[in-house]
Amino acid sequence: MGTGRRTPLVEELKAADPLISVGVLSADMMDLRGQIDEIEAAGVRILHFDVMDGCFCPMLTFGAPFVKAVKTGLLKDVHLMIEEPVDKIDAYVAAGADIVTVHVESTRHVHRALQRLAEMQNANDPERGIVRGVALNPGTPIETVRPLLDEVNFVMLLAVNPGWGGQKFAASTEARLDALGKMISDAQHDILIGVDGGIKKENIGAVAAMGAQIIVTGSAVFDGKDPAGNAAFMMDEAGKGAGRRTS
Ligand code: DX5
Ligand code: ZN
Repeated sequence: MGTGRRTPLVEELKAADPLISVGVLSADMMDLRGQIDEIEAAGVRILHFDVMDGCFCPMLTFGAPFVKAVKTGLLKDVHLMIEEPVDKIDAYVAAGADIVTVHVESTRHVHRALQRLAEMQNANDPERGIVRGVALNPGTPIETVRPLLDEVNFVMLLAVNPGWGGQKFAASTEARLDALGKMISDAQHDILIGVDGGIKKENIGAVAAMGAQIIVTGSAVFDGKDPAGNAAFMMDEAGKGAGRRTS
């Protein structure tokens, strides 16, 4: 059960759990290539793109042209914080998105957005497939995921309200992760779980231990000092944390 329409990339990510997905928004934009090369050399595999439209959340960042312009061997994890993403997804897929995550609060048609993603090909490699994700704001009930279980590969819980890097991790996230994990396993599905926001050197181990398999981190890696060292530390701590999981 629950294995319908899974892609090779989903399987690859599952096998590599825990992974960090590093938020490009916190990088030094004047040295973007250098910063990305540094984290790639440190072993990072995923780059997180925070797409904000100034409507779904107050901040406005970048769109599909920027996602496309970033030439990298890293997987592109595109977090869409935009209103009504259904008809806008194609542009991000064409821009090379490997993971596409839409917010359940951003559209009346989140199920259709996921179905639509299932029909699309990965622009980097058609064999790879696209990971279909949904994201939930901290105030959104976990139950909203239940009707989507057959269509989703990845559920990402925000531990902050969308809009800004460098915010504080919401303590409620632990119980939410627990409830999500139970819902997925009770339904006998096999879905990746992620957390985004407020993840630092001090808490990444604990967040991995809570069951987060893909851990988004921005300002803790791109701190203006040592992205490679920070990324290595974060990956190491995440690995140790995952080793402490009880279920
Ligand atoms: C919040 C974004 C996050 C955030 C991560 O709107 O989705 O990806 O910028 O940044 P840090 O790790 O600095 O909280
Ligand atoms: Zn994000």
